[in-house]
Amino acid sequence: MAEHFLTLDSLGREGVREILDLSHRFKREPGRHRDALAGGRVGMIFDKPSTRTRVSLEDAAWALGMLPIVLRPDELQLGHGETVADTARVLSRYLSALTIRTFAQARVEELAANSSIPIINALTDEHHPCQALADAMTLEEALGDLRGRRVAFVGDGNNVAHSLIQAAGYLGFTLLIATPEGYRPDPAIVAAGRTHGEANGGGIELVTDPADAVRGADAVYTDVWASMGKEAEREERRRIFAGYTVDEAMMASAGPRAIFLHCLPAHRGDEVTDAVMDGTQSRVWDQAENRVYTEQALLYALISGDHRGERLG
Ligand code: CP
Ligand code: NVA
Repeated sequence: MAEHFLTLDSLGREGVREILDLSHRFKREPGRHRDALAGGRVGMIFDKPSTRTRVSLEDAAWALGMLPIVLRPDELQLGHGETVADTARVLSRYLSALTIRTFAQARVEELAANSSIPIINALTDEHHPCQALADAMTLEEALGDLRGRRVAFVGDGNNVAHSLIQAAGYLGFTLLIATPEGYRPDPAIVAAGRTHGEANGGGIELVTDPADAVRGADAVYTDVWASMGKEAEREERRRIFAGYTVDEAMMASAGPRAIFLHCLPAHRGDEVTDAVMDGTQSRVWDQAENRVYTEQALLYALISGDHRGERLG
């Protein structure tokens, strides 16, 4: 049975810890693991645009000696002209792993159910687990052990927030999520994150006023107000999310040592100001870079089964 990465729950607490340890190691050892998965092939399907995920996955594959193959959706017949299950069965005969960015989480699950190679979720409407690994790595670089830390998320409680909730549960930090009414995260994901956090001090708090989330936080995180697929709601959301812009005053309320994170792409002037994006507290470029090491760790662990890197030279 292949090991898939559909959400952070696929890894669980120990698995998340192992992938992060491996990620820090890959960052410390650039260029040393070009033979680790030599001859492997990783396919990538993007039903939505991508800059970071696409390039970082290609970088990560290359760093392990693998061939990355981008499969354009308009060149496939996934779900039309061929069943998702049949495409999964066929690609399993060619590839070592398959990554997919798409709309419904159900599609990723269907691929996984019919695939004998690891399926990696490269973002759905519900989750962005690859992002959460890079977020956690960047937080650890800045703050060390995350247990007991407070991270504020200001914005839309959808995919990125959901994956951060799972990270908080497994890594033991408190995530304070400020959203307008109607944009709160999925209650089932919040409840599960709280349960996982009980073991190690992690917590999830939902508030409406961003000031209640950011006060004294160790990190402030935001994401676009209109996610991919929701572009038609952009103007309406601009009105609804007014007051949720992370600006210098909000960062000042968090404190001078707090860091700023954003999964990117940023809509400067909406969810974040130029001054915060380009300011001294911003770690967004490190965060984007860390996508490479976390995806390298993920590809290596899922394909080889060696989660602790014991077989790495
Ligand atoms: N953060 C992120 O996933 O960026 P892309 O949409 O550019 O891949
Ligand atoms: N929430 C955003 C994340 C982009 C990486 C989106 O889904 O568009």
